[in-house]
Amino acid sequence: MSASTGSGKGGFFSKQSIFILLAGTMLGYVVLPVLLVETGSLAGSVQMKMKSGTNGGYTNDDPRHLGGDDIMSRLIENKKLLSTQSLPTDRSPQVMETAILSDHRRKKILVTGGAGFVGSHLVDKLMMEGHEVTVVDNFFTGQKKNVAHWMHHPNFSLVVHDVTEPLMAEVNQIYHLACPASPPHYQFNPVKTIKTSTMGTLNMLGLAKRVKARILLTSTSEIYGDPQVHPQAEGYWGNVNPIGPRSCYDEGKRVAETMMYSYKDQSNVEVRVARIFNTFGPRMHPNDGRVVSNFIIQALQEKPLTVYGEGDQTRSFQYVSDLVDGLHALMNGGYERPINLGNPDEFTIKEFAVFIKKLTKSKSDIRFLAATKDDPSKRKPDISLAKEKLKWEPRVTVEEGLSKTIDYFQGILDEAGEIIPTGPGASKPQN
Ligand SMILES: NC(=O)c1ccc[n+]([C@@H]2O[C@H](COP(=O)([O-])OP(=O)(O)OC[C@H]3O[C@@H](n4cnc5c(N)ncnc54)[C@H](O)[C@@H]3O)[C@@H](O)[C@H]2O)c1
Repeated sequence: MSASTGSGKGGFFSKQSIFILLAGTMLGYVVLPVLLVETGSLAGSVQMKMKSGTNGGYTNDDPRHLGGDDIMSRLIENKKLLSTQSLPTDRSPQVMETAILSDHRRKKILVTGGAGFVGSHLVDKLMMEGHEVTVVDNFFTGQKKNVAHWMHHPNFSLVVHDVTEPLMAEVNQIYHLACPASPPHYQFNPVKTIKTSTMGTLNMLGLAKRVKARILLTSTSEIYGDPQVHPQAEGYWGNVNPIGPRSCYDEGKRVAETMMYSYKDQSNVEVRVARIFNTFGPRMHPNDGRVVSNFIIQALQEKPLTVYGEGDQTRSFQYVSDLVDGLHALMNGGYERPINLGNPDEFTIKEFAVFIKKLTKSKSDIRFLAATKDDPSKRKPDISLAKEKLKWEPRVTVEEGLSKTIDYFQGILDEAGEIIPTGPGASKPQN
């Protein structure tokens, strides 16, 4: 018996078996791999479609599936977006879009007291115009949350600093607001209030002189004291008790005005002085003890509205956005003498309490308490000069402004639960 060689009919490898072997090899090494590759690319394309659609759980915007270049362009896009808008917070719930100014138009602006009530609204305006704004504040009555919406903006800086200490900075304009403004707060540490108005103003004037910046002081209607003329025009020199409970503030501001004009006359510093009358609006400190915040907070909680004295004393109230527009017009205009900024719409305190009750639909009583010492009996600005020199006058009615302020305090109350308004005596700001 011999082994088949495949060469003959009875050989080991027949022609059929060689054909089957070749066909099998072709199938294993060529056809199947090609099929697998084809199936794989099919699966790949399905996967791609899932990534770029929404069905796979990812959206087109999901950065986990972006390439390096895409991530970089997304980062640049986000950076551009952040550099032109605020981030919403409870103090400022809308996104505010800032302008982009060319280098020669963008100013470096310092706002002392910029975390306070008026200062933070002024900062909003200056930031939205596209300027570089530095806030200097010691947080005595100011609150970080008032400017928190600008914290990530590249044009904004916050410096925790007390203006009674010197400050070095390169700036084009200085809005000098730093000073507590409500009687309970400025009476809490009267010596400090005097230092803030005097040493603080000297330090800011020194800075303005060194860097040739224009400086604006926020003075006050309190420099007219308990006025003997009505309404008060800028030419009136006032009637101030130099040693009363309000004098740390009133006389502090009077000497601050004197310093402004001494620096102007002696060293050619460009000065602006605003005499501000009662101003109200969102971001007022809930514990500042001023009549607008106290009445609204009391009315919203159905607690008695507390009036000091008979309630016949008069006040006029301006909404904060009008004041900010006036400060801005004064700083950027050519007028150099002191100027009143206020709303001449005058109320007795009793009338004002009734008005707040009506707007808040409150059932609160009105309670009369002992009068406070040196409380001015009348207060109403003559704003003819501001109309003529700045082309400025208030645009927001007291009612419109109050309804925005009431909404704001309602939000604060919802958060806080209860607020006990500050009485007339000296008190430290709560938070
Ligand atoms: N709001 C008004 O009705 C009114 C009326 C007249 C004048 N003003 C003037 O306007 C300015 C702002 O008033 P406001 O109502 O916003 O008061 P505010 O108390 O809310 O703001 C004052 C700001 O100055 C800061 N500050 C106080 N002492 C400081 C110091 N030594 N160093 C650094 N920062 C200091 C406070 O922390 C606060 O942020 C004040 O100069 C005030 O005299 C306000």
